[in-house]
Amino acid sequence: MTRTASLGATLLVVAGLLLALSFAPWASQEPAVDPTVVRPSPTSDPAAVGRTLFSIKGCATCHRHDGLPAERVTQGGQVVAASRSLTGASGAPDLTDYDPDPGFVRVWLRDPEAVRPGTRMPNLGLSEEEIAALLAFLEE
Ligand code: HEC
Repeated sequence: MTRTASLGATLLVVAGLLLALSFAPWASQEPAVDPTVVRPSPTSDPAAVGRTLFSIKGCATCHRHDGLPAERVTQGGQVVAASRSLTGASGAPDLTDYDPDPGFVRVWLRDPEAVRPGTRMPNLGLSEEEIAALLAFLEE
């Protein structure tokens, strides 16, 4: 075997090893990320996370909140509703100036039906982190 040939063979073996390593279980892909689950990191501002959740979890489809960058629906120059808000039709209160009782809101967001049977507010399957962030937003 010539020198070049054995160098070539060595390189081939190294490349083969690297390829095998990239298929090893510990090098496998990242776990699937569910974009609807927001996990606030210790450095993120909980109220800012809560504001985002208020939009993506659908709260804003029923509740109006001035803290959201919602487009306004106007009639004759008068603001009648935030465009994504069904306030009025759904009977959901405007939460802009809501003064939350943290204990109540935690229980409420976990399971509205358990607090007021027959309520029109659905259980949105929120995690404790999401509830804490939403509460921080409502307290702002
Ligand atoms: C399908 C419409 C709907 C959605 C979506 C919805 N709500 Fe509600 N919410 C309601 C209605 C209706 C009420 C009034 C319920 C009642 O009193 O029975 C309410 C009440 C509330 C209250 C007030 C409870 C009280 O009486 O003090 C809070 C706070 C609240 N919702 C927060 C949220 C948050 C946060 C979200 C999103 C995670 C959300 N809601 C999503 C309809 C909705």
